[in-house]
Amino acid sequence: IAGCSSGSDDTIVPGTNAAFAPFEYKEDGEIVGFDIDLAEAAIDRAGYEVGDWSDLKFGSLIPSLNNNDIDLIAAGMTIEPDRQEQIDFTDPYWESNQSVLVQSGGDFQPEGESDLEGSRMGAQKGTTGESEVERLREEGVIAEDDLKRYNNYVLAVEDLEAGNVDAVVVDQPVANNFAAGRDVSVSFVIETGEQFGMGMRQDDDRLADINDALAELREDGTYDDLVTEWFE
Ligand code: ARG
Repeated sequence: IAGCSSGSDDTIVPGTNAAFAPFEYKEDGEIVGFDIDLAEAAIDRAGYEVGDWSDLKFGSLIPSLNNNDIDLIAAGMTIEPDRQEQIDFTDPYWESNQSVLVQSGGDFQPEGESDLEGSRMGAQKGTTGESEVERLREEGVIAEDDLKRYNNYVLAVEDLEAGNVDAVVVDQPVANNFAAGRDVSVSFVIETGEQFGMGMRQDDDRLADINDALAELREDGTYDDLVTEWFE
């Protein structure tokens, strides 16, 4: 079938990596969060059916989209040039920086990048947080052996609480969420000025409908209601 996708053309099957609260996480076995509600509202408003969510490794999202296993990525994914070579993004729906998380009340309380010298740093594999830690390694601030890559950010923060890593670099709203619920706090912010978009295949013309729907959800207050629900 031409343009064969994961579902029929009426159905948009979404995928995420559900360890990134409050954007997406699991609660009683169910995937919930801001991205989940926003993506479902946009798919619905655009006149399509919402398929069953897939919870994938972050690095598997783009390949799975291009394999037609899923039709839309909603995963707090930053719009990045190397990703734009592989997929299309919707108009941006969020802006974020990266935050440096450390153990609360510990001896290690860096106030800027130079204070990270010689520390053990972690991030989720394949993310922009990992890119920041890679940059610090390239700049000679940290050693390759001290760069720890995790399958998801919950595992990274658990390792931070356990003292196996000194700092974790993660998107600002997610860092704030961890800081509110765990024994970690934000020591400083790296201003990356990232924008999140939802991903779709480059040949999927339903993208325009999703963009129109996202604009409508902003105009009619649905977007603001979701922000209040998940971030305040
Ligand atoms: N914004 C970052 C990126 O695009 C991190 C996204 C991680 N998302 C997730 N659902 N785990 O690389």
